[in-house]
Amino acid sequence: MTKGNFPVDKLKGIETPFYYYDMDLLKKTLKIVKEETKKYGFIQHYAIKANANRRILELIASEGFGADCVSGNEVKVAVNAGFPASKIVFAGVGKTDKEINLALDLNIFCFNVESLPELEIINELANKKGKLARVALRINPNVDAHTHEYITTGLNENKFGFAMAHLDEVMEKLKSLKSVKLIGIHFHIGSQIEDVQVFGPLCKRVNELQTYFEEKEVKLEHINLGGGLGIDYENPDACPVPDFAAYFALFNENLKLGDGQIAHFELGRSIVAQSGVLVTRATYVKHGENKTFVIVDAGMTDLIRPALYQAYHKIENVSSGLPLAKYDVVGPICESSDVFAKGCELNETRRGDMLILRSAGAYGEIMASQYNCRELPKPYYSDKI
Ligand code: LLP
Repeated sequence: MTKGNFPVDKLKGIETPFYYYDMDLLKKTLKIVKEETKKYGFIQHYAIKANANRRILELIASEGFGADCVSGNEVKVAVNAGFPASKIVFAGVGKTDKEINLALDLNIFCFNVESLPELEIINELANKKGKLARVALRINPNVDAHTHEYITTGLNENKFGFAMAHLDEVMEKLKSLKSVKLIGIHFHIGSQIEDVQVFGPLCKRVNELQTYFEEKEVKLEHINLGGGLGIDYENPDACPVPDFAAYFALFNENLKLGDGQIAHFELGRSIVAQSGVLVTRATYVKHGENKTFVIVDAGMTDLIRPALYQAYHKIENVSSGLPLAKYDVVGPICESSDVFAKGCELNETRRGDMLILRSAGAYGEIMASQYNCRELPKPYYSDKI
């Protein structure tokens, strides 16, 4: 979907702000991910947190992908949308008893365990149910993802996963836990990683850890490398489908998998981001002393990424073909961080013009809030308008 083929006429009767999803682009993206993973026998669990919209989940589930969940409700939402429990992995540093019980009752594929106390609780709850819980240890590989500090997760000081220094203790403890079965190891170093080479050091670390487990004569069937592949926010039209071929090829080349071992991935953003846009209208065009503001009817409540991570989303005026002018595009929320872009070039904008914020299909709608008592933005789909 580009500015040129954005269906302004079909959408002009809809109250803004809303999310609009290009289902053809999503299908195309899924097809490519499937082809690229199939080449190497890799398994992809879509990270529900990126976008848990029912229709999008149904489509992804129908293509045969598994799901990566980080809360009990995500597990429920995934199952309801058609993901088989046998393809669900469940991560998160703070899984509650209620969430663990739910996942045990559903017989999910694997818990990605992040601490010793969690491992003990899973063991205890599984034991009460007379079940054997499959677990993978999430190990913090201390690899720098070179991304925004809020979305880097694989460094020693991050809250996620086991520190490598504690593995001996964990392995010792596991011997006495009879209701958990160690089936693999799990990693996730961060999100929006634009340079795939960053995953090279991760592979190296995983290979080293494989030797550690071999020496302990522990057989691991599943190696989960997490997600994190970045997308091109600057030029969504040049790169509507991220370079999955390069991403999976890098793992295939650098990862030393043992006999029968399977590599799993948990991509979220790269699968859904480019398929979604946030559609808004200019409520006012206001002239300040040195700059001109376009005040739109969407705010940080609809798309929080710019306010939270200083993230860039390309903005286009799909109603105007006038010459370019410079604007600060801001929302109506009573927070000074409610700014989508500063000094942004748009076709000359008038009140009522429709604007789109691109690459908003991941961590957009799902992170929306009702601050200021606002309504949540609704989703619309290209195949149903
Ligand atoms: N697996 C784990 C364990 C994760 O923590 C994440 C994302 C993923 C997979 C999926 O990563 P992806 O392929 O989407 O990069 N709200 C932030 C992103 C937070 C990502 C959190 N974890 C944003 O809007 O940029």
